[in-house]
This record gives sequence, structure tokens and C-alpha cells, in this order.
Amino acid sequence: MLIEKNTNYNKRGAIHSRVIRISYLIVSFVAIASIFWFRKSSSDTLSKLYSITDKCTNNPPTDRGHRFQIKHIFHHGVGKKYHEVHRRLDITPEVIEKVARDNYPNSADIDIQNLEDVYNMHDWPQVFENEDPWTIELPVRSPEAKSRAVRLKHRHEPNFIESYLSYAMSVQGDQSILSRIHLEWEEADVAIPDVKDKQTVVSLATMSSNAYVRFPKDDDEKKKSDWIDVGRPWVPDDEHDSINFGWNESGLRGHVFVSEDNKTVVISIKGTSGAGIPGGGSDETTVADKTNDNLLFSCCCARVSYLWTTVCDCYRGTYTCDQKCLEKEHLRRDRYYQAAIDIYQNVTQLYDPETTDIWVTGHSLGGALASLLGRTFGLPAVAFEAPGEMLATRRLHLPQPPGLPKYQENIWHFGNTGDPIYMGVCNGISSSCNAAGYALETACHTGKQCIYDVVSDKGWKVNLLNHRIHTLIDDVILDYNETAPCVYQPPCTDCFNWKYVSS
Ligand SMILES: *[C@@H]1O[C@H](CO)[C@@H](O)[C@H](O)[C@H]1NC(C)=O
Ligand SMILES: *[C@@H]1O[C@H](CO)[C@@H](O)[C@H](O)[C@H]1NC(C)=O
Ligand SMILES: *[C@@H]1O[C@H](CO)[C@@H](O)[C@H](O)[C@H]1NC(C)=O
Ligand SMILES: *[C@@H]1O[C@H](CO)[C@@H](O)[C@H](O)[C@H]1NC(C)=O
Repeated sequence: MLIEKNTNYNKRGAIHSRVIRISYLIVSFVAIASIFWFRKSSSDTLSKLYSITDKCTNNPPTDRGHRFQIKHIFHHGVGKKYHEVHRRLDITPEVIEKVARDNYPNSADIDIQNLEDVYNMHDWPQVFENEDPWTIELPVRSPEAKSRAVRLKHRHEPNFIESYLSYAMSVQGDQSILSRIHLEWEEADVAIPDVKDKQTVVSLATMSSNAYVRFPKDDDEKKKSDWIDVGRPWVPDDEHDSINFGWNESGLRGHVFVSEDNKTVVISIKGTSGAGIPGGGSDETTVADKTNDNLLFSCCCARVSYLWTTVCDCYRGTYTCDQKCLEKEHLRRDRYYQAAIDIYQNVTQLYDPETTDIWVTGHSLGGALASLLGRTFGLPAVAFEAPGEMLATRRLHLPQPPGLPKYQENIWHFGNTGDPIYMGVCNGISSSCNAAGYALETACHTGKQCIYDVVSDKGWKVNLLNHRIHTLIDDVILDYNETAPCVYQPPCTDCFNWKYVSS
């Protein structure tokens, strides 16, 4: 499973402690793997896992791989009441011992009718059924060559990005005005995840899936004092005395995975949770999730017909929408994009972005937010089954290096042709997305698209179930011999039948 092999040090002629530690890890992994193997030898998915780990130990020696474990969870409040709540939970052995021990059975048996239900399954891949999301170690490797990234030079200065974005919004992204601001760009060779390596893709997808796993499990645990305020201290008042932000309608979550040498950090952003079904996540973040889905991926505030409750007030008549109004809504402090920026900035307080490689990942809404963060800060981003987020990057006027369109951008969108949300076809009056109150009208992605064509290759039907991260991991990524090839999307326009006007 681990990527490095002991033959490495023969070449280098020196046995240093790191190699010894790594060899020790391999030995312990093999021991654990054999127990695991013994326990579940009949399982089909296990054999898939075994074959990747097997394949991996046969890989040529390299020091381009690391094992990642979850170390922190960030909760950033959203919504008018909670957007100033910023907290962190460190996943220490003590915390795991105290509250996290649990099995996360697969929810494959839930009867699926609509999107809410699909969103509701706290997907944990079957292949890791017997692993604990809080202790699992996920191997990720980088390709030999680093990748060129063009990033804003001052991106880590306090308020720099925020003031750029609000200025861009104030001039409605007018390029002739924006080009007069002299933004300084820097080029750097950055380490990226190896998206051609199957195990790396499985690991990143599993981190995305991990962000759905609820932790701690019950309300009493949430109130305990393990959470650390990383913003203004949270003072409960009479009206909101219970600390359930992050799981209630009021927060965005980032699960932070760190490599064993502390040099690479992956932030996994949580995607959408469905509204309560019996036994499901009734206290999850559904309200805000839906609002943000309908804001980011609809043409105009989810104004699908007069029957719909819109998420913002920018509709101005038949297929006409107020652009400035829309942009303002995207950038609101109490929306998810801002919360994602806050999470990133809090992570950089713990891990110096000058010396740490920070990558982002996520599934669905979480993947789209990961991609927006990637664009904002020039971070490598790997998204899974995200709805089209190109329109949102335009509305937010995310800064773009000069020399468009083929500038270097390390963003990958993995998905499968059987997923109507990723393919941008889950809309229209009779669609299951509309039936559930979601207006997911966009289809265009930024960066590269890595598409598993399950419809042609396997004869799958387009079905919401194929949107699940669990399905993607267990039945798609693991089932293909190779990872999907990543290519630039041909020119793509969303919402072409809408007219956007200035107020
Ligand atoms: C975390 O982010 C919030 C919101 O941006 C900020 O107020 C707070 O100071 C940050 N905390 C740390 C430790 O960076
Ligand atoms: C990584 O960071 C953790 C916590 O800050 C620390 O305990 C550990 O020793 C560090 N590991 C290395 C290899 O620096
Ligand atoms: C969110 O929390 C409030 C109390 O803080 C509670 O009244 C409300 O029912 C919760 N909402 C959901 C969807 O669980
Ligand atoms: C995948 O690999 C297996 C075993 O090596 C082989 O039998 C199969 O034909 C391959 N499938 C494809 C589509 O290449």
C-alpha cells in the first residue's frame, strides 16, 4: 500500500531514519492487511482493494508517496446568525478514543426515490467498510514532475483576496477596468496529486466521502469543550444556546488530512446533505446546503417557474436576471464561498502555505467549492461529481492570470456519464432534481474533466444513484483498470437562454 520501498536506500547508499520508519509502516501495513484479508476474504470489494494495494507494493520504488490521516475538522458558520462562528476540532488519539469509535455501515439498502435521499446517505465506501474514518491512513502520490502554477503573489495577505473580489464585483467584472489594477502574479512549480494513479484517486475520493461522516455523533458530544474557537469566541445566547452549527442549517465543514511528514495537507470540503428522512441526518446542514446549491448552480436564484421559492431576489422578468444582484449574493459573507475561504485561511494559520503543499478536494457541492478555492488561491483541486461551477467562477470574478485562456490551472473534475448532476442534465420540469426542489442548471466545469464513460462502457442508465461518492469509488474508480483520462472541456456556455442585465 505504501508507495516507497526499502530498495530505495540501497541506491542512495544510506539508511536514514525516515526509510526505516517507512519500512516499519510497510510491515505493519502488511500485517494489518493480512488480518483484514483473513477476516473478509470472501468479499469482492476487498479483493479489489487488495489488488490495488498489491499493485502498489509492486510499484517501482519512489519517494513521491505519503500516507494521510485526518487531523482537524473546521466548522465555519454560515447564515445571518452564525457566520462569525469559526471552530476547530483536533482529531487526537484521545478524541478518537472518547467519541469517534463507531462503525460506519454502508447505507446501500436505503430505498432511493429522489435527490434528497441520495444526498442523505452518509456515504462511506464499501471498500473501506471495516475501516474507521478517523484512523484510516490514505496513500496519495505525486507524479515525478511538478506542475507549473500561476498564482497571485499577495494571495495570503490579510483581506487581499476579499478586497479584490469586492472591487471586481463593484465594477461588475468589467475587464477594461480590472485590467488597470496591476495584479502581481508569480509562477511556481508545485507538487500535485497523481491523478493517473488509481490509488491516489481512491484516496482523495475517500477523503471527500469522509467529510460527510458526522462527528461527533450526538449533540451532547458536540457541546463538549474539545472544539476550539478560531474566530471570535462563540458566546451562546438565550436564543441559540446549543452548539450545533456545522450540522444544522448553519455551517460548512472542512476535514483536514495531513501527510505523515506534515508537508502536504488536503482539505476536504463537505457536500450537500439531504433533508431529513427517518434515520437520516435530520440535523444536517440541509437548509443552507440547498440554498447554496440553488444559488451556485442555477441560472437565476433557482427561479425555475413562478411556483418556486427563489434563493435570492434577482429575477427581473421572463428569462431576465439582474447580474449585479446575483454577484452580490455569491459573495455574501454568510454564504458558502466565503466560508470556504475562511476555512482555507484558518488552515494556513496551522500550516504555513509557503512551506506546505495545500490541496483541496470534495464531492458534489463540496467539489465545486474545492474548485472555487483552487482557482482563488492557485491550489491543486480534485473534485468528484461536482455540478458545473464555471458560471459561479465567472460570477465571483475569480482572478485569472493574464494570457487566457490556456493558463496553467491544476483543477480536475472526476465524474461519470451516468451521473445526471455531473453531466448537467438533472434539470427540467420532470427531473428528479427539480422534484426535490434543486435547480441544478449548469453543466460547464473549469479545469480538466476526467470522465468515466459508464454509459458506453458498462451500459449504465443515467440515474441519481450514480452521483453517490460511494458508487463512484466502489463501482467506478475501482472497477476500471485505469483512471479516467483528463482533458480540457470544449468551449461551454450555461444558461444561454437567459438575459443578464445591469441594475
Ligand atoms: C479563522 O477565520 C476567521 C474568519 O476569517 C477569522 O476571524 C479568524 O481570526 C481565523 N482564525 C485563525 C486562527 O486564523
Ligand atoms: C507533525 O505534526 C504533529 C502535530 O503538530 C507532530 O506531533 C508531529 O511530530 C509532526 N511530525 C513530523 C514528522 O514533523
Ligand atoms: C437547528 O437547530 C435549532 C436550534 O438551534 C433547532 O430548533 C432546529 O430544529 C434545527 N434544525 C434542523 C434542521 O435540525
Ligand atoms: C483490466 O485488467 C484485467 C486484468 O488484467 C483484464 O483481464 C481486463 O481485460 C482489463 N480490462 C480492460 C477494459 O482493459
